[in-house]
Amino acid sequence: MSNIGSYETRHRTFSWKLAEGELEYGKSGNYNIGYFCTDRIGELGNGTRVGLIWEGFTGEVRRYTYDDLRIHSNAFAIMLRQLGLQPGDRICIFMDRIPELYISFIGILKMGGIAQPLFSAFGEEALAMRLEDAETKAILTTRKHLGKVRRTRPSLPHLTRTIVVDAGDRPLERGEIAFSMEKAQRVENIEIAKVTPETPSVLHYTSGTTGKPKGALHVHSSIIAQHITTKWVLDLQDDEIYWCTADPGWVTGTSYGIIGPWACGVTQAVLDAGFSAHKWYAFIEKHNVTVWYSAPTAIRLLMKEGLEPVGKHNLSSLRHLVSVGEPLNAEAVIWSEKAFGRPFHDSYWQTETGSIMISNYPGMKIKPGSMGKPFPGITAAVVNPKTFEPITTAGTVGLIAIKPGWPSMFRTYWNNQETYEKKFKNGWYISGDRSSVDADGYFWFVGRDDDVINTAGHLVGPFEIESALLEHPAVAESAAVGKPDPINMEVVKAFIALKPGNQKSDDLTIDIMNFIRKKLSPLAMPQEVEYVDSLPKTRSGKIMRRLLRAKEWGEEIGDVSTLEND
Ligand code: PRX
Repeated sequence: MSNIGSYETRHRTFSWKLAEGELEYGKSGNYNIGYFCTDRIGELGNGTRVGLIWEGFTGEVRRYTYDDLRIHSNAFAIMLRQLGLQPGDRICIFMDRIPELYISFIGILKMGGIAQPLFSAFGEEALAMRLEDAETKAILTTRKHLGKVRRTRPSLPHLTRTIVVDAGDRPLERGEIAFSMEKAQRVENIEIAKVTPETPSVLHYTSGTTGKPKGALHVHSSIIAQHITTKWVLDLQDDEIYWCTADPGWVTGTSYGIIGPWACGVTQAVLDAGFSAHKWYAFIEKHNVTVWYSAPTAIRLLMKEGLEPVGKHNLSSLRHLVSVGEPLNAEAVIWSEKAFGRPFHDSYWQTETGSIMISNYPGMKIKPGSMGKPFPGITAAVVNPKTFEPITTAGTVGLIAIKPGWPSMFRTYWNNQETYEKKFKNGWYISGDRSSVDADGYFWFVGRDDDVINTAGHLVGPFEIESALLEHPAVAESAAVGKPDPINMEVVKAFIALKPGNQKSDDLTIDIMNFIRKKLSPLAMPQEVEYVDSLPKTRSGKIMRRLLRAKEWGEEIGDVSTLEND
């Protein structure tokens, strides 16, 4: 029997108060996520249960019980306090997927800090931009990424503490502190920071069309929604071995790769290694993974490898599969049924929503290609893009809109309340995605309503790429757009006009690609560069990415009446 049971009944009887009750949120005056993810599990009598099975790229395996998670996260909290860090300070985690990443996240929350996880593959510029915007006080990192941190530090006056979790006895520079989680004193209990449900907890940066990436700020009571959606959508039950393939640099990796599963007290497995079908299947087999939360790009990569590697492994432990981040194509759902004997269930949400908004639930009929229905307690609709009134005709495309008020909704964009307020129209939160709803209430994703590029489930802002491209000595003008890709859905394509005296060449293309990879990240790196004499612009001088994108997708170009040089 699934946790959700009947979707219809849950939908009818749901209230967020009930969800709060399921978690006993606020019990004995405690609202801190850190408490709910570690100490509370011990209080429920499950402290000796394994909370984290970690496997590194060399095959090394480490296991941590909930008692270990509590004690190690206490050590992080004590260390941060001793360094003079205060509740409300932004503390960045910049590491690969090692145990310290997951456990320090809890430690930061326990001392009242705001955790700011950043993807460790980010280059200096991507890192610096986000640390500068958040006026981040401290960064936790490893030797592998220390060079990038060191190079950003001179431009970041607020960043006064760099904590290196694997420094050992190696010499460090001024302002750098060595800290070993394993060697730290084991403190059973600490005074966990007293927070209210509205105290900020996590700051996740996300890309938009214009301007720099924006920091979506979440609060401690987000856990109410993360816990109940983990229970009902991911269907985590007591003895689960759960694997979320997402990196905590992105919201899926914190909401459902740390907070949700640990609030449920289950065992979660983490693989800190790159993608290979064989490695992934071996991981599932070795650790008896039962519930798997992944992404369409990964599923398409597995599809590409075919059924043969599936047959070489015993994957019978798998019982529930869920996907997020990009459109889950019907073929992927059908293939997973063939390969694993069960379909992937699509789920839809955003950094800003903090938890799953629309999904296919265990037991509910799946329509392959549809994102499913709103979570109980979530009122979602598609609205007219001009009037922001709900569209009631089945099959008509509009903007996905959600009625505000769910616990994990972001509370602002860091230092950017104005942009935050623009996301609300006519009493709805406007997601910026287009969809239709069919006669049975199922949502069908159509596309984004802006120029943001979704590559392998990760959003990349064209503005960030274009700004970085302009720093290349040969580039005069540039535009970055998404280009269709059979695996990653979209990849970045750059259109570039060169400065006089520069000639297009393969060497230059490779140089430009590497320039972006190093500055921003491998995801932001253009997979293709097209040289043009000039870029299409509006009369006011804005580059018309829409036109370039439409050509890539073979779409109608639409209204070009504002084009300057058509
Ligand atoms: O465009 C939608 C797409 O990913 C965006 C949110 O990205 P991000 O804030 O990085 O959070 C990703 C993880 C929750 C959405 O605005 N997206 C997410 N899930 C789906 C999706 N597109 C289609 N189908 C989905 N299931």
